[in-house]
Amino acid sequence: MQKIIAANWKMFKTRPQAAQTAAELALALRTGTPKGRLAVVFAPFTDIAVVADAVAGVDGLAVGGQNFYPEDQGAFTGEISPAMLRDAGAQWLLTGHSERRHVFGETDALVARKTAYGLEKGFKVMLCVGETLEEREAGRLGEVLGRQLRSALEPLAADARAQLAGNFAIAYEPVWAIGTGRVAGPAEVLDAHAVTRGILAEILGATARELPILYGGSVKPDNAGALVDLDNVDGLLVGGASLEAKSFLQILGA
Ligand code: 13P
Repeated sequence: MQKIIAANWKMFKTRPQAAQTAAELALALRTGTPKGRLAVVFAPFTDIAVVADAVAGVDGLAVGGQNFYPEDQGAFTGEISPAMLRDAGAQWLLTGHSERRHVFGETDALVARKTAYGLEKGFKVMLCVGETLEEREAGRLGEVLGRQLRSALEPLAADARAQLAGNFAIAYEPVWAIGTGRVAGPAEVLDAHAVTRGILAEILGATARELPILYGGSVKPDNAGALVDLDNVDGLLVGGASLEAKSFLQILGA
């Protein structure tokens, strides 16, 4: 399976800063991405067009939106539609990120609506799942991942399920490892990814084997290689260390 190394810039970078980083990525990747990997940059709304312009024509480097509202248009003050993101140059959408769930109160039901809507509109969707420290310590990893995956995937109609392969990825991001410098250990990542693959198989059958499962949470250039080589780890979703082209490129080639 092609590994996906994704950058989540979160709420960082003005347009000139985004243009600079994107230009550095485009220059470094003009002859292709290392090991045939796919790079995706989830940029803030105002940066998407700037990044898409800077990386146009670079094979293996795609642009995504971090958030959206699942309607085409309408009276939804402050929101942005997938159609607008496509117009700006986004091909990917992120759903279920822990900061959306925990800081902005997105429910499983909204995450499910967004995931289905993004797929229906022809985007590639990356659904994030992950447990809090409290949930992990209470032995609830499987239950939490099961709830997050089932609520988003079980409602999908047969035709949507048939199109998941190639258009859908999961990112396992333990909440306690995001932005904390506390990366999950290899045993924890192996276990969580195997649990995730198993739940996907229960919901989707054979398709589960074709869906990339990325790890995210304090990924850095010095731990990326060991993480990306683990069983069932099909890529990485990188926050802080994706902001500088140099460290993101090191992770991309790790
Ligand atoms: P950090 O890499 O900064 O821990 O962030 C992870 C993340 O939330 C990516 O979506």
